[in-house]
Amino acid sequence: MIRFDNVTYVYPTGVKALNGVSVEIGRGELVALMGENGAGKTTFIKHLNGLLKPTNGKVYVDGKDTRTLSVAQLSRVVGIVFQNADDMFFLPTIEEEVAFSLRNLGFSEEVVQKRVDWALKFMELEEYRKRSPFLLSGGEKKRLALAIILAWNPQVIAMDEPTVGQDSAQKEKLKEMIKQLNLQGRTVIISTHDVEFVAELRSRVILMSKGRIVADGRAETILTDGELLSSCSILMPQVAATMSRLADLGFNAKVISVDEAVRNIVEVLRRFEHTRGA
Ligand SMILES: Nc1ncnc2c1ncn2[C@@H]1O[C@H](COP(=O)(O)OP(=O)(O)O)[C@@H](O)[C@H]1O
Ligand SMILES: [Mg+2]
Repeated sequence: MIRFDNVTYVYPTGVKALNGVSVEIGRGELVALMGENGAGKTTFIKHLNGLLKPTNGKVYVDGKDTRTLSVAQLSRVVGIVFQNADDMFFLPTIEEEVAFSLRNLGFSEEVVQKRVDWALKFMELEEYRKRSPFLLSGGEKKRLALAIILAWNPQVIAMDEPTVGQDSAQKEKLKEMIKQLNLQGRTVIISTHDVEFVAELRSRVILMSKGRIVADGRAETILTDGELLSSCSILMPQVAATMSRLADLGFNAKVISVDEAVRNIVEVLRRFEHTRGA
């Protein structure tokens, strides 16, 4: 679905934000793009809908070189929710915000209404539809920003730092929505440095540092590799950090969820009791 072929991107200021990035993301995958501030995550995401074009190398979306397509064409395939998307509302009601871009994309009024209904329902914003977007809470604004993108029904959804400024209940909701969108067959890419969030998503992780991809694998593998993470200035998820400190006592260090940790602790303690009893 997405292919980066040795992509380098240099900003006009001379900063090399992507440096030889090659990666493929398949249709229907769920991917967390991780890395410290300045690693290149936002720059990567801006290449997905052609807002930025590679200085060197190629980006392909659904097999097509992004240089040959306009941002408007690419945006039908890849919907991006930017980090500050929730400051950009300008219409009197929530439903009008969602309908606006659909009308611009040329959909019939019947389709616009159907899609607005669906997107607001999916994002659990239906009861607010006649309200001003400015009256929403931070988490609801994020959901509205996502509803606007979802209404276009793009095959790929990318979210830049979706958990920033969200409380734990909002993150929980966001996580469920991301999982559902992915289960419905969409390719979902989130950029984040929130290790706890990714540990719960259990997705593929593409780890970036200084414009390069330094690791690519399952969350269980990458988020338990202390050395790798600290070389990228990222902390391990708390569960993994705890379990890795108990590894000498026979506990499994490669665990990123609380449930798994508890299961392993109980198992090890049972074994211990058993040996003592015998
Ligand atoms: N508009 C810009 N102009 C110049 N440099 C930029 C711009 N945006 C980002 N950068 C630089 O590019 C590098 C990567 O930034 P970015 O992609 O925003 O990283 P991340 O999203 O991982 O924090 C950083 O060194 C950053 O300072
Ligand atoms: Mg960023």
